[in-house]
Amino acid sequence: MCGIAGYVGDYDAKSILYECIKRLEYRGYDSYGYAIISSNKLFVEKNVGYIKPISLNVRANIGIAHTRWATHGKVSKENAHPHTSCNNLIAVVHNGIIKNFKELRNELINKGHKFKSETDTEVVAHLIEEYLKENDFEEAFRKAILKLKGSFAIAAIYVNQPDKILIARNENPLLIGIGNFGNFIASDVNAFIKYTKRAIALDDFEYGIVTKNGFVIKDLYTKRKIKKSEIRIDWDEDLALKEGYEHFMLKEINEEPIVVSYALNINFDENILNLLLNSSKIYLIGAGTSLHAGMHAEYWFSKYCRIQAIATDATELFERCVVDKDTTIIAISQSGETYDTLVAMKEAKKHGAKIISIVNVPGSTATRLSDYTILQGAGVEVAVCATKTYVSQLVILLKLILELSKRLGYYDGFLDEEISSLKEKIENVLRNCNDIRKVANDMFKSKNYLFLSRGINLPSAYEAALKLKEITYFHAEGMSSAMLKHGTISLIDENMETIFLIPGSGRNRERIISNLHEVLSRGGKVLAITPKEVKDVVNIIVPDTSEDLLPIVFAPAYQLLAYYVAYKYGREIDKPRHLAKSVTVE
Ligand code: F6R
Repeated sequence: MCGIAGYVGDYDAKSILYECIKRLEYRGYDSYGYAIISSNKLFVEKNVGYIKPISLNVRANIGIAHTRWATHGKVSKENAHPHTSCNNLIAVVHNGIIKNFKELRNELINKGHKFKSETDTEVVAHLIEEYLKENDFEEAFRKAILKLKGSFAIAAIYVNQPDKILIARNENPLLIGIGNFGNFIASDVNAFIKYTKRAIALDDFEYGIVTKNGFVIKDLYTKRKIKKSEIRIDWDEDLALKEGYEHFMLKEINEEPIVVSYALNINFDENILNLLLNSSKIYLIGAGTSLHAGMHAEYWFSKYCRIQAIATDATELFERCVVDKDTTIIAISQSGETYDTLVAMKEAKKHGAKIISIVNVPGSTATRLSDYTILQGAGVEVAVCATKTYVSQLVILLKLILELSKRLGYYDGFLDEEISSLKEKIENVLRNCNDIRKVANDMFKSKNYLFLSRGINLPSAYEAALKLKEITYFHAEGMSSAMLKHGTISLIDENMETIFLIPGSGRNRERIISNLHEVLSRGGKVLAITPKEVKDVVNIIVPDTSEDLLPIVFAPAYQLLAYYVAYKYGREIDKPRHLAKSVTVE
């Protein structure tokens, strides 16, 4: 979940490393650090808190940097990366978890090594130092990596060979950025997108030697050179800038109309459609927000294709589903790096399943594990809280399912006109942001919230609750309004705020409003988010559309609501505590 960056080239590494690592701050932000080599000396600077530029006044053409999301050892300057060897000639940064670090640490202590931190990572610097006694840097690095059990993306530099960065990967993303005035390494393309849009991704058990003029990738076990294809990152680097918005989250919600237009223009590969039409089982897997997108798709699959697809938390796939060669997995992941989702994908492949992924980050691990990938094209999402990428996932899934429905002879285009007006409908919600802000300021005084709905909008209730709790730190729960009376209703009193997501017409509207009255009559506070005003309660009105498309129109409304509530309470909106943008650990 941490971020790694590195640079070797003609320019001053200090400012480049700062730019790169700053762009990765959303991957972890409890502490940070840099290691650079200048005049045959290693300089390390690290600190707790948000990333600041290097203060050292030396010139360097090589360096590595890290932003940390603590796993082993508390948040402290000592535990921040880079970590160094006893002789201070080697510096290492690492993402992931080294499971056997205690044994390795004890072995190294017995050999006389002195440790300065509580981290698992530090063993790597000492191991390289140990192997350097009889090997060159590359071989010492390779041997050190082979001792590790667990997951890692690692980069190391060595004072006596100041022309190269060595890198290695297992289960944690690591990329090389091919620049014109030097080369980059990073855990995420965002780090170097300002400097280059050409990238190479390492796969598991590969290591690389990156120099100013080139790179080589090799197999960790055999040392055989591996040819890799280049990935082009067609993202606009300015998307990683706030452009006048106070927070990335607000900016990204405001990008939803563009994201919807892009998603509506995606044409699906015939092979994807045929695969889905010929699969006897379809499972949609993901985590958090991406899982919620999959849950909506489950409803759409059953309604429009009469196909029983199952959406499941990726970690539960093998607990509850039969996965075999007749199975197609639709893996949904913004980052394409979520550990839990990747593990399920790999296991599903072993069982003979085919994998289609819906991913936002080009070249990410999920894209390389899939038989087919649908790239979201939503551009970089910086705020930890997923917003525009969720809306894009919904539109892509809806379009895909309707395309299948058409081929199955069920869909004749009756929703097409409404779908083409989704962009305007979202714009309309965004224009009404002041009404939403007012509700956020006037209500939302409690520490507990319930988001309630039914049918296709039930996953909207889950997602709305996730948005609120993630950035406000208040407890929120999404549930079926019908299920309220089966237990949760006992929580209703004047301190419980309930938010109902209600369609503008139909059976579910009547049923949900009836549940809303059950809350009102018990003294609960009620807000309705709906296209048609509900009497006796506070309303946020959104443009009317078919109930099945409402998840896409509700999303910006409850996302803005969460944003303004978090704003009111002065939360760190783009970087909520304890979280990181992609969860690359188990
Ligand atoms: C919520 C959020 C997380 C992610 C989840 C999966 O706002 O961002 O719940 O949705 O960690 O991440 P991806 O989609 O990258 O696999």
